[in-house]
Amino acid sequence: MDIKFVKRDVLKEKPDQKNLGFGKYMTDYMFVMDWDQGIGWHDARIEPYGPIEINPSCVTLHYAQETFEGLKAYRTKDGRILLFRPEMNAKRMITSNERLCMPGFPEDMFVEAIEELVKVEKDWIPSEPETSLYIRPFVFATEASLGVHQAISYKFMVICCPVGAYYPEGINPVKILVEDELVRAVQGGTGFTKCGGNYAASILGQVRAEAKGCTQVLWLDGVNRKYVEEVGTMNIMFKINGEIYTAPIEGTVLPGVTRDSIIHILKDWGYKVNETHLSVDDLMKAGHDGTLEESFGTGTAAVISPVGEFVYKDDSVVVNDFKIGELTQRLYDYLTGIQWGNEEDKYGWTR
Ligand code: COI
Repeated sequence: MDIKFVKRDVLKEKPDQKNLGFGKYMTDYMFVMDWDQGIGWHDARIEPYGPIEINPSCVTLHYAQETFEGLKAYRTKDGRILLFRPEMNAKRMITSNERLCMPGFPEDMFVEAIEELVKVEKDWIPSEPETSLYIRPFVFATEASLGVHQAISYKFMVICCPVGAYYPEGINPVKILVEDELVRAVQGGTGFTKCGGNYAASILGQVRAEAKGCTQVLWLDGVNRKYVEEVGTMNIMFKINGEIYTAPIEGTVLPGVTRDSIIHILKDWGYKVNETHLSVDDLMKAGHDGTLEESFGTGTAAVISPVGEFVYKDDSVVVNDFKIGELTQRLYDYLTGIQWGNEEDKYGWTR
C-alpha cells in the first residue's frame, strides 16, 4: 500500500506515564483512508491527529453506520514492540462491516496500516508496568444524506493513545449488577459486531449500575432475560466446580480476541471449557452453594477483570471473598506475559 506521510510541525508533549488512565491522550498522528463507490479504498495517509470535517447530514451522525476495533501495542523490556493478534481484529471488522452494510477493509491493509502508524508513533508506547498503546481502528459512513440507506462513501481511520488500566480499580474485583430489564443484543441483531450503536445502547445500563454502587452490568439474553451473556463491554467467564463456563458465540455475543486466547490457554492447561448457556439462576445458586469459585471479564482494554460480587434483584453473591481468584491471576499473568514479551509466545500470537 502506498501511504502518504504528512508531517506535523510541532509534536505534542507526552503525558505522565504513571497517570495515563484510558483513552485521554491521543498521539501525534492518525491513519486515514477513504472509500468511494466505484473506486474502493484510496488515498492512504498518515497525517497529524486532529479534528476532521464532516457534514452535519453525514449518515453516521444520524443512523450510526459505524464499526470499530481495539487492540494494543506493547513495549517489551528488551525494546521490541509487539502487536497481539491484529489479524483477529481485521477479520472481526470485516464481519462487523458486512452486518452494517459497509465495505470491508482488507486484512492485509488493516495490519499494514496499524504497523506503519505504530512505527511512526513508537515513542508514544509507554514502558511503565501495565501500560500500552491502545489502537483504535474505525470505519464510518461519510456521505451527506438523510435518507436511511447504505452510504456511498466511508472513511477508515486509526487513532492511538497511551493507556494504563481501563478500570480505575485495575485488576481488583468489581461489583456487578445483573440487568434484568434492559438488554444488549438479540438473535438477528448486531450483538456479534463491534458497532458503536451496541455501546450507545449499553450506557443506560452502566449508569443505572453505577447508581446502585456497581461498576458494570451483567447482560442477560435479550429474549428470556435468563441466560448470562456479557459483562459491561467484555466477555465473561465463570469457574464453577473446577470447570469453566462462558456464553457461546451464536450471534449475540462479541467474539472477543481475549476470550478466544483465554479459552485456548485454559484448554491447554487441562480445563474443561463449556461454551454454553448458563442461566442466572444457576449462577446465583452456584454462588450460594459455594461452587462458584471465580469469575472474570475478558477484553482487550482491561485484559481480565475479576468479579467480586453479583447483585441480582434482591439477592447477591460474593465471589471468592471479593479476592482475585488463583486461576484469574494466573491467566492474567500468563497472557499479559505473552503480550509484554516476558513469556515465551508458544502460540505465535505476537508480531
Ligand atoms: C474492550 O474490552 O476491549 C472493549 O471493547 C472496551 C472498549 C469499548 C473501550
